[in-house]
Amino acid sequence: MAKLKNDTLIRALLRQPTAYTPVWIMRQAGRYLPEYNATRARAGSFLSLAKNPDLATEVTLQPLARFRLDAAIVFSDILTVPDAMGLGLGFVEGEGPRFARPLREERQIRDLTVPDPDRQLRYVLDTVGQVRKALAGSVPLIGFSGSPFTLACYMVEGGASAEFRLIKTLLYSRPDLLHHLLEINSRAVIAYLNAQIESGAQAVMVFDTWGGTLGAAEYREFSLAYMQRVLEGVKREHDGERVPAILFTKGGAAWLEAIAASGCDAVGLDWTADLGMARSLIGQRVALQGNLDPAVLLAGPEATRKGAAAVLAAFGRGSGHVFNLGHGVSQHTAPESVAALVETVHELSPAYH
Ligand code: CP3
Repeated sequence: MAKLKNDTLIRALLRQPTAYTPVWIMRQAGRYLPEYNATRARAGSFLSLAKNPDLATEVTLQPLARFRLDAAIVFSDILTVPDAMGLGLGFVEGEGPRFARPLREERQIRDLTVPDPDRQLRYVLDTVGQVRKALAGSVPLIGFSGSPFTLACYMVEGGASAEFRLIKTLLYSRPDLLHHLLEINSRAVIAYLNAQIESGAQAVMVFDTWGGTLGAAEYREFSLAYMQRVLEGVKREHDGERVPAILFTKGGAAWLEAIAASGCDAVGLDWTADLGMARSLIGQRVALQGNLDPAVLLAGPEATRKGAAAVLAAFGRGSGHVFNLGHGVSQHTAPESVAALVETVHELSPAYH
């Protein structure tokens, strides 16, 4: 495979010196882009878009055609894995994801098996391969998965949840059964991430969207411990190149030292974390990714420029920072705000290197 022309993201994730701070945006291919909505309409639905490698490749590349982003992230979803396990993923307009067969009986959990990505998630691997080819070494491609715990939340709740009643009831009444589920999910995530790496992903990110809803001890036992297992099982080198791993626990700011000790190369931060404090706490060991509040972009390009400048200043001089939002970009964001963000990072960050 050809060498990367722009390896700034990979270098920053490995805490090597760079000329500027690399930037990419969680959910950079999404509904805030009119061209995404047009392709999605052609596909018929989000799921038929995600399951069609040609169209998924097209939308993966859309934000890169508009903005000087330093990475692509494969267009897919974390819930493809439980879908491949037979839970039947669907999306209800305006309500988000919904499983036809959520895990409600012990028997269903005991019957779960680890999907073979080469067969059951072939469409994701095909997309990864096609995107990698289309990028032609311009920027690195990020692969991703949900964390074992975050996947379990959706599998048990059946969809989005406000209070996590079912998963928490399971956690406190049948911890043995939840551990069994997390064990299966961990093996599924390892196989899935390794298959993405084999297919062309050059960095990987684990999204732990709901780990932050747990108590400190429960987070360590039911979320972090399994992400650590995932990191132990995932290839960290492929084709002679390091494959950095990013771990993002939304709401995890109180547990940064434990997260940094998990074996990841970089820690994703949401906007509740103080980037300067996070750097002094764990910046000697891992790179940091984040952490502008996505809501700042709703206020327009000027507010976005100020917000981006403040995040760069909060990290300060030196390497080991990947600019990102603290969570996915909102569908109500004007593309002009995203343009202002990317321009500002490219303009102002060289002074910090
Ligand atoms: O970052 C990227 O550009 C890659 C694409 C990506 C998507 N989902 C596309 C998507 C990634 C990395 C995800 C991860 C994901 N999916 C997470 C973890 C990160 C996070 O946001 O916390 C979670 C929890 C999900 C589950 C999920 N998928 C939800 C809750 C929803 C509904 C959101 C909504 O606003 O309706 C989705 C659907 C989804 N995944 C969309 C996109 C672009 C919107 C679908 C559409 O076009 O209607």
